Amino acid sequence: MQFDDVILGRRSIRGYKPDPVPRALIEEIIGLAMRAPSSMNTQPWNFYVITGEPLDRIRAGNTERNLAGIPHSREFRTGQGFTGQHRDRQVGVAKQLFAAMGIARDDKEMRQDWVMRGFRQFDAPVCVIVTYDRVLDGSDDTPFDCGAVTTALVNAAWSRGLGAVINSQGIMQSPVVRQYAGIADDQVIMKSVALGWPDESFPANAVVSHRKTVAEATVFVGFDD
Ligand SMILES: Cc1cc2nc3c(=O)[nH]c(=O)nc-3n(C[C@H](O)[C@H](O)[C@H](O)COP(=O)(O)O)c2cc1C
Repeated sequence: MQFDDVILGRRSIRGYKPDPVPRALIEEIIGLAMRAPSSMNTQPWNFYVITGEPLDRIRAGNTERNLAGIPHSREFRTGQGFTGQHRDRQVGVAKQLFAAMGIARDDKEMRQDWVMRGFRQFDAPVCVIVTYDRVLDGSDDTPFDCGAVTTALVNAAWSRGLGAVINSQGIMQSPVVRQYAGIADDQVIMKSVALGWPDESFPANAVVSHRKTVAEATVFVGFDD
């Protein structure tokens, strides 16, 4: 696959075949992703790659705690709720996903099912928990570096025919993840990535989310043209 094919073809995958993903392939993908740049080459990232029974326990724990209304315990700051154009984009992609899945706006049950799917890591056969070294806590460079490696990870996965979705839903109940993944105390949980072979028949997988234009995002300074 050419670079442009990966970048333009990749989209978040939220429906997976149950087939296992070979460990050697995941190692290869992580190896590619770790070529990502990082601040002063600190490489603050680490990965817990989970499958099988431990992943099922995390799915169950996440689901139970969220249904029981236990407050979220993400290990990163979430900021304020979105407003304006950011809220519009959040709603925009949700509308695309719900339309693809045939979920009506007022269908509370189906919407709840969709949220539960996220708590179960979209039933993916593999989940990668991205963590960083706690000693670097407080530096904005660290989450930036984790973002770089995680973006590289999902692109590397796509280049090998694997699908992924970066998500916060899987780590909303961090004690569950800590317990069943055996996350070391010196690690902070940054994000989760569901990973597996895309189920081509799952409608939401076909959704191509929108982007603002280069002109909207970019200010060119000092150019003649
Ligand atoms: C930091 C981050 C957190 C995300 N959390 C979730 C999530 O909890 N649930 C979900 O379904 N998608 C999640 N996503 C996926 C985004 O919704 C998706 O990347 C965005 O809508 C653009 O779509 P695309 O990945 O298909 O291009 C997350 C993505 C990022 C980068």
